[in-house]
Amino acid sequence: AIRHFLDLWQLEASELRAILDEAHAAKRARDGWPKGLVDEGAPLDGHILAMIFEKSSTRTRTSFDVGIRQLGGSSIVLNAGDMQLGRGESIGDTARVLSRYVDMIMIRANDHTDVEDFADAATVPVINGLTDRSHPCQIMADLMTLEEHGLELKGARLAWVGDGNNVCSSFIHAAPKFGFTLAIGTPDRYAPDEDDVELAREMQGRIELFDTAEDAVEGADVVIADTFVSMGDVDAEERLEELEAYAVTEELMDLAQTGAKFLHCLPAHRGEEVDSEVIDGPNSLVFDEAENRLHAQKAIMRWCAGK
Ligand code: CP
Ligand code: NVA
Repeated sequence: AIRHFLDLWQLEASELRAILDEAHAAKRARDGWPKGLVDEGAPLDGHILAMIFEKSSTRTRTSFDVGIRQLGGSSIVLNAGDMQLGRGESIGDTARVLSRYVDMIMIRANDHTDVEDFADAATVPVINGLTDRSHPCQIMADLMTLEEHGLELKGARLAWVGDGNNVCSSFIHAAPKFGFTLAIGTPDRYAPDEDDVELAREMQGRIELFDTAEDAVEGADVVIADTFVSMGDVDAEERLEELEAYAVTEELMDLAQTGAKFLHCLPAHRGEEVDSEVIDGPNSLVFDEAENRLHAQKAIMRWCAGK
């Protein structure tokens, strides 16, 4: 079967563990190297990655591009608006055609079901680079970062506060796979997807839902925030108003464990979902987290290619 990387719940815990182990090892092996040097053995020598973007990106675009080069391959960036997709060519035909040219395809799409349809039609591995429903590559980088900073994921308590969005859903999918507890604090209206919560609980995931940020954060080892207004959200004003009480402040961090880490996938809005004192403070891991997109995704691409 083709190894697509669409959502974390679809992979075995052992596969996800192996991907993170590979990411840690490969990062250590090239410590201090110029960023354009190819990894020992050029594991994806000659491979071409196509990247389709229906929405903006800074990190995903750059980290996948640098990553495939470090593995010995190369990339092509396709902005969906410049493709025939925009003129009505079907997702399926696009996937069938691109599969004849390239070895792997990353796609960032508005609609998650488009990514599923794309993968169904593709004859090469497809990687989800963010949809309205999930962002699995981000969570692999986030978990790698926590491990690097000495946190054992099994039994850890992670708190998500604010909007129960796509990034939150991927944390929900990861909870049963890595054995951490996920405490989620959101207003009712922005609660996480019920199907995701149910799915994770069926897999013995420990997902706890709260109405306030304070209750979610209490005793947490890690506090996680994301933008209150995701790409594609049209109700910005209401969101900013309703989610204001879920901002991560120093006072909120004080409710977590002493020295609790802070994560944010970026881009961040200082003064909205997080205060500068927190995101620029000593327990913030956000730039390691951004760097680790590179290392985690290299391991994901190797898993997809079976190399
Ligand atoms: N965190 C993240 O996916 O960033 P970009 O939107 O810049 O790719
Ligand atoms: N939740 C955000 C994440 C951006 C990387 C969004 O979907 O816009």
